[in-house]
Amino acid sequence: MNEPSCDVIDLRGKNVLVTGASRGLGRALAERLAALGARVVGVARGEAELTAAMAAIRDAGGEAHAVVADVADKDAIARVAGQAAALIGPIDVLVHNASTLGPTPLRLLLDTDCEDLAAVLETNLVGPFRLTKLIAGPMVLRGSGVVVHISSDAAASAYPRWGAYGAAKAAQDHLSRILAAELDGSGVRVLAVDPGEMDTAMHAAAIPDADRDALAGPATVARAIVDMIRDPVRAPGGARLEAPAWTPTETT
Ligand SMILES: NC(=O)c1ccc[n+]([C@@H]2O[C@H](COP(=O)([O-])OP(=O)(O)OC[C@H]3O[C@@H](n4cnc5c(N)ncnc54)[C@H](OP(=O)(O)O)[C@@H]3O)[C@@H](O)[C@H]2O)c1
Repeated sequence: MNEPSCDVIDLRGKNVLVTGASRGLGRALAERLAALGARVVGVARGEAELTAAMAAIRDAGGEAHAVVADVADKDAIARVAGQAAALIGPIDVLVHNASTLGPTPLRLLLDTDCEDLAAVLETNLVGPFRLTKLIAGPMVLRGSGVVVHISSDAAASAYPRWGAYGAAKAAQDHLSRILAAELDGSGVRVLAVDPGEMDTAMHAAAIPDADRDALAGPATVARAIVDMIRDPVRAPGGARLEAPAWTPTETT
């Protein structure tokens, strides 16, 4: 356990947008953030799963709203930002969690269609960047905010068959670092976080024969990532952090 620093952010009343909030890590992040008093907007494509996830948060006493959208849909991004602002106000914390592997079973790069590579980049890099442009600009004007990019070890290691996904995650990591450098001193913190391997639908799609007992639960990983969001000392702007290596903050 780490001592909480005196600069830890109080999430009560903070406005948070989490993409990919209908299941897996995104849902766990939305639940954890709401449990600490944040007002949450969750985004995903599947309406039934997303509305059920947000309703479960409300049933537990939190505030959560669903905005159904595809982050890769250029025409939907302004609506996402606008609906989120209308529902909860200016966003204090933006979590880019939604992502796609591309076609599964995963395939070698030379067997990957250019259109599939482009589609992975739209979901994992370009769409999130469109949302960042709409939401981080106002954060800079207000002089505070946190932008989190959920990364992967595939961004750093050259795993065969993970080419489209790994290239998109590597690009997102670098975009995160450059954005952090550009926003240094603005009050807006930009982080990239490798969550580690988790027992989720995405992991099952990528590695169907994995030993699920060896995988972390999304709720455990979400606690670590929310610690990072709250702690500007241990998780400064520009950092690329690994959730499995994070020691929990004492009070959480
Ligand atoms: N699981 C792991 O072991 C692992 C390891 C390293 C990194 N990660 C990263 O962790 C994050 C969460 O992964 P996960 O395993 O929790 O995935 P997951 O269980 O498959 O959940 C993905 C979430 O993203 C949403 N989503 C997918 N494409 C979307 C789109 N185009 N627009 C809007 N929402 C979209 C999904 O809902 P809809 O399908 O309804 O849209 C769902 O809510 C991802 O960034 C992933 O790359 C995961």
